[in-house]
Amino acid sequence: MLNIVVCVSGGGTNLQAIIDGISNETIKNTKITGVISNNPGAYALKRAENAGIPAFCISPKDCGNREEFNQKFLDKVIELNPDLIVLAGFLVILPKKMIETYRDRIINIHPSLIPSFCGTGFYGLKVHKEALRRGVKVTGATVHYVDEGTDTGRIILQKAVEVLEDDTPEILQRRVMEQAEWVILPQAINEIAQADQK
Ligand code: GRF
Repeated sequence: MLNIVVCVSGGGTNLQAIIDGISNETIKNTKITGVISNNPGAYALKRAENAGIPAFCISPKDCGNREEFNQKFLDKVIELNPDLIVLAGFLVILPKKMIETYRDRIINIHPSLIPSFCGTGFYGLKVHKEALRRGVKVTGATVHYVDEGTDTGRIILQKAVEVLEDDTPEILQRRVMEQAEWVILPQAINEIAQADQK
């Protein structure tokens, strides 16, 4: 069984894709042992509660400083004892100690075809605004391992999505989520879970 912890900051549609994937068995041999958010208002926490998954909020606002947040966050992850950590729209820079502790066991979903439109400052709608400004005809999503850089870890899966003539950033974001993110993130987790069984 692959035990995973999912880290979220927002609406949680990628978390929901994982929950649904486990429920309909497109993701096998996997259990979400906990969901952690830095944002108390994240709807993703509600999604976890609705699915009966332990949900925790560790907010930097409740911590005296960055070091205290980093330690609380790492302590909670260690307590949940995951085989894999999944960053699903998690907008927090991971503590270096976490990356070292869980080397090659942290994955992230990014809403572009890395190495395009990634790195510092490229998250959420900003990614799609940039893709439209540049005029690319194809974009998509990437699942990659997390290392000390920003969106620089080894690529696991990618899926391309067509950019259409009258796309707005919001329309393009939704298409990338529906046609790419919600497909390749569950697929990547399932592949890791199967490899873990061998
Ligand atoms: C998605 O666009 C994802 O690519 C990016 O952040 C957003 C998260 O959305 N990392 P959600 O919280 O999974 O709905």
